Amino acid sequence: MLDWYDAHRRDLPWRAKPGEAVDPYRVWLSEVMLQQTTVAAVTPRFLAWTARWPDFASLAAADDADVMAAWAGLGYYARARNLVKAAKAVVSDHGGVFPRTEAELRALPGLGAYTAAAVAAIAFGERAVVVDANVERVVARLFAIDTPLPAARPAIRVAADSITPDLRAGDFAQAMMDLGSGTCTSRAPKCLLCPIRELCEGFAQGAPERLPVKAKK
Ligand code: ADE
Repeated sequence: MLDWYDAHRRDLPWRAKPGEAVDPYRVWLSEVMLQQTTVAAVTPRFLAWTARWPDFASLAAADDADVMAAWAGLGYYARARNLVKAAKAVVSDHGGVFPRTEAELRALPGLGAYTAAAVAAIAFGERAVVVDANVERVVARLFAIDTPLPAARPAIRVAADSITPDLRAGDFAQAMMDLGSGTCTSRAPKCLLCPIRELCEGFAQGAPERLPVKAKK
């Protein structure tokens, strides 16, 4: 997965270029924006936002009305309010430096389990297990987990944990996200382009697109 990521990673504005340092502010902001919004919708908004508020200090000092206007159309406005609150907490409680531990991250407004894990892995290289809907699909297929969702989630998490590397956990998470969004798609997965096809139990069984199984409503 890491080799594949090095060769095929999507060039997204919150990702550091090879050899560049990652900016925790940009990682955090992107993960919050991406919680309920697609990469395509987030990208231009992320660029406009970071041009205006490039760091925690500028965002902490931002005018609330300007922030809400910059968020317009992204939905779930609590996310925008929490961004400003969290930026203020980073400045006042952490000397302007984003905290590194998952516990301190979880204490910031708007940082749930998923976002804290994603930031810990991507911004700080911590070995955190990052499972969003794309990763969930890849893992369910790789291990042929056919328990219906949401009951399958604990098993998917255990399986994701078992394949997360100690080093480059952030790149691994983003490789899984890219594989899920571009290759291991819900419908018509492009298995012939998949770097882990030969390890994939769902592919071996012949019908990976049926996984993950959704509970009947
Ligand atoms: N979705 C959520 N976080 C992401 C990331 N870091 N890269 C691509 N898609 C994502």
